[in-house]
Amino acid sequence: MTRIYLDHSATCPALPRALDAFVTASQQLTGNPSSAHTEGRAARGLLEEARESIASRLGFPAAELLLTSGGSESCQTALLGVAEARSRVGAGRRILTSPLEHACVDAALQRLVQRGFERVDLPVSRSAVLDLAVLAEALQEGASLVSLLAYSNELGTLLPLREVAELCAAAEVPLHLDGVALLGRGAIPQLPGRVLWSFSAHKIGGLPGIGVLRLPADVPFAALLPGAQELGRRAGTESAALAAAFAAALQAGEAFPRAAMQLAETRFLTALAAAQAGVEPLACGGRLPGVLTLHCAGVRARSLVMRLDLEGLACSRGAACSSGAEEPSQVVLGLGYGREFAESCIRVSLGPRHPDGELERAAGLLAKTVRQLRR
Ligand SMILES: Cc1ncc(COP(=O)(O)O)c(C=O)c1O
Repeated sequence: MTRIYLDHSATCPALPRALDAFVTASQQLTGNPSSAHTEGRAARGLLEEARESIASRLGFPAAELLLTSGGSESCQTALLGVAEARSRVGAGRRILTSPLEHACVDAALQRLVQRGFERVDLPVSRSAVLDLAVLAEALQEGASLVSLLAYSNELGTLLPLREVAELCAAAEVPLHLDGVALLGRGAIPQLPGRVLWSFSAHKIGGLPGIGVLRLPADVPFAALLPGAQELGRRAGTESAALAAAFAAALQAGEAFPRAAMQLAETRFLTALAAAQAGVEPLACGGRLPGVLTLHCAGVRARSLVMRLDLEGLACSRGAACSSGAEEPSQVVLGLGYGREFAESCIRVSLGPRHPDGELERAAGLLAKTVRQLRR
């Protein structure tokens, strides 16, 4: 039986054109992009071509794109690099964020707290809606940085990006947006103020091991990995081949077109409702379709995900990097649900092209397995 992959938020299968770009570049290039000889200049040429292409698809100047090893490094560079540098120019040590952030952001914040920064979690409602009035008030008390998840990789909710950016711009506080799960789901909006963005290639069919941080030129910044590459903003030899693969994935167009995702989600949820297994999506405000957290009452998510895997269905208990952990999803807990509730939640993240009948089969498998585990 063919397996069903409903874990696109963890990673997206590599696109053939991204693989081609990677292989072609790897075969053609022998030099290091920092070397001055002909081979080095060839690698530099391809790297900068890929950066230009990525930048034009994202809508930012190429000089503001810092290549990193992925989304985690981009987020952590934004937080650690900017918070420290801003505190040195008198911006204080208060960072505004939310309880719904990805584990890589939480980890960077933990480090900043150890270094004497204050983490302020802005309240969110049960349906994951951020209170903008509270953000406005918190900004008045001063902040060195605001860091928020643009699109939730667990709940499918979209932050009111423009409103948040306008408030931060008015308060003259830089805003970092974790755009890793937003990429491929529509154009990245041009926002007012000093906005940093983190993105990762493997979430849209590029290859793992590369991401970007959009770092506006006027934001104080201290490198996380000090060194000469990336205009002195990051140490480490850049991979022109990975950058070419990232550019190729972006050139393929949106990885998760809205209409296709809506159709997929409707098919899946209709089949799930018809199965009447008491599996309910969390009711969240401001969602884009395709990413769902499902509450499976009376069932432990850990056992459910394992059983589903044996049945041929790949899904998760939350973000991939924390799904091996004992703890249930921090995001579901962050919404204010209790531990028992969170321990019964799984995440499904759909793709844009499921063959006919696949999502109905997935819903049927889920319902059947939930019933078996309840016995
Ligand atoms: C919202 C979000 N931010 C950051 C990351 C980290 O990205 P990467 O896997 O490229 O390090 C992920 C990956 O799961 C994510 O979903």
